[in-house]
Amino acid sequence: PRKIIIDTDPGQDDAFAILFALGSPELEVLALTTVGGNVPLALTSRNALQIAELAGRSDVPVYAGCSRPMVKALKTAEYVHGPTGIDGCVLPEPEKPLQDKHAVNFLVDTLMAAPEGEITVCTLGPMTNLGMAMVMEPRIIPRIREVVLMGGGFFEGGNATPAAEFNIWVDPHAAAVVFDSGVPVTMAGIDCTYTAQMTPEWLQQLRALGTRSAIEAANMADFYRQYGSHKFPTEARPIHDACVTGYLLAPHLYEQKQCNVTIELMSPETIGMTVVDWWHVTGRRKNCNVLRRIDADGFFALMLERFGNLP
Ligand code: BDR
Ligand code: CA
Repeated sequence: PRKIIIDTDPGQDDAFAILFALGSPELEVLALTTVGGNVPLALTSRNALQIAELAGRSDVPVYAGCSRPMVKALKTAEYVHGPTGIDGCVLPEPEKPLQDKHAVNFLVDTLMAAPEGEITVCTLGPMTNLGMAMVMEPRIIPRIREVVLMGGGFFEGGNATPAAEFNIWVDPHAAAVVFDSGVPVTMAGIDCTYTAQMTPEWLQQLRALGTRSAIEAANMADFYRQYGSHKFPTEARPIHDACVTGYLLAPHLYEQKQCNVTIELMSPETIGMTVVDWWHVTGRRKNCNVLRRIDADGFFALMLERFGNLP
């Protein structure tokens, strides 16, 4: 199986991404690392432990990382996810505590010890931990197989500001470190995630699996779905972070194009924007695989099947 580390700020959609991965035999989740993002670090860390527990996978270690972005102050998103970050469900108490090591040290130690090109790092929140790890130990950069992230967007504009998507906007400096590092980057921005919207009908199918994982996932999705009524015309909603797992499992379901992508850091109006050179007008190095349209039927069929593997 493909070895991955999931860096996350759960978040209901993060939970879907993690459960989707834990239900998939092609992926080996080495660890969850947590970051302050949707809610503060203490909550995202607790949520990560509880999600692993829900999946019956308390063997997956959870490392807490950075509580705030590199330069900016932390901005959270309780207005989307609720005060706990994962409102709407009742999750089991974690059996295992957090690991003692800091997530940034875990990333550095693990990537340095693994064969070159073995480990994929998936980021589902602000990219602070990975950016910090690259600054602290640049020799990890060529050792990473690929970074697959949920964040950014260009054609749809932003969801945190008119220009910027939440994960990149919260810590644009960390994102800039990663995008400029030379590591192969695949970006599932909102241009991609808006094309796979979770419908009430699909949630009924999920609930009908009857397992605790499926029922609590459907419960959290029902909470999460309330947000965005001003924006989306129907009851269907994107399930952003799960698109990262979908890409790892079934890249053929995604339209993709290699582009140069830079992170805007200077303007107060557009800070955190991912500037995608779709037409290659700058001639600059194509540092990013930009994901666009998803075959939504294929994506949701696969996710449902994989939830079927969970307790
Ligand atoms: C991203 O921001 C968070 O609210 C979600 O968990 C997702 O990672 C979407 O912009
Ligand atoms: Ca997230």
